[in-house]
Amino acid sequence: MQQEYLMDISKYTEQVINTMKKKQSEIIFFVLKKDKETKGFLYNQRFKNMGSRFYQDQIVEVWKWDKNNDTQYEEMSQFFDRRVHDYDVHMNSFDNYKRSLVELTSNIAATYDEINILDLGCGTGAELRYIFKQVPNAHVDCIDMADKMLKKLWSDYRDFRRNITIHFTSFFDMDFGVNKYDYVISCNTLHHYVKKDKLKLYIKIRNSLKNNGIMLIDDYTATSEEQEMQLLERYHKAYNSGETEQGTIYHIDIPLTRDSEESLINEAGFSTLDIKTIEGKGIHIIARK
Ligand SMILES: C[S@@+](CC[C@H](N)C(=O)[O-])C[C@H]1O[C@@H](n2cnc3c(N)ncnc32)[C@H](O)[C@@H]1O
Repeated sequence: MQQEYLMDISKYTEQVINTMKKKQSEIIFFVLKKDKETKGFLYNQRFKNMGSRFYQDQIVEVWKWDKNNDTQYEEMSQFFDRRVHDYDVHMNSFDNYKRSLVELTSNIAATYDEINILDLGCGTGAELRYIFKQVPNAHVDCIDMADKMLKKLWSDYRDFRRNITIHFTSFFDMDFGVNKYDYVISCNTLHHYVKKDKLKLYIKIRNSLKNNGIMLIDDYTATSEEQEMQLLERYHKAYNSGETEQGTIYHIDIPLTRDSEESLINEAGFSTLDIKTIEGKGIHIIARK
């Protein structure tokens, strides 16, 4: 049984960790969120942040080294499936995560009508509870490529199963239909995709919306053009150097700036656009067909 305990960095050197790696196939440490020194040390020893959980009455981050996953980049669905148990506590440990979802979904007009909503990258369904507060009779098509995230959603939303259809696929591979949805929503998901793919996706979303339908996006953004370029360079390097396989989707962050997002949405042909800056996070996009 793997031992899990709060790491005391004074007891560890690179040499100690290397010796542990020879004896164990996986190593897990808990680290306090504010302990940047320990996190930096573990990152350099190829440990990965797997999420957060409650430990001795506090929230700690789970840092793991896994012999079978000793690579820099992880395929998207595996990334989330590996973290499913610690995902919700981790995300809720960010001050603005819940607030941001509440604020975005407040753009959905409250009604008891049976409206249609599409959720791209629904994960464990964090935004669903706020959607159903606004529209208890909505039907939501939930798309995600991570099987375990979807299974958790299905179990957590037992009482809303008649409102939900699960689609276990990549949203790039799914036909969304035409004039079908009142709202299309995506939270914390689209910052892994390059402009070319995002533009195609925005056009597909626009076509799937009814007239006057609304696309709602909550996501991270790059803080400057330089940052957008740097992250993109790292992304292309990963693919060009063979560290990642062509045609496979990896969990690599490549957020765009607010301006880049704005021009993509306009190019996709939405008729009105409101972009709100969410302090310490990114943006909300509210675009009407
Ligand atoms: C950070 S989670 C967000 C989950 C939820 N929306 C939230 O805000 O907590 C991103 C989710 O998007 C999914 N995802 C990323 N790219 C996807 C794609 N191309 N198709 C389907 N799901 C995707 C991942 O599997 C993951 O569950």
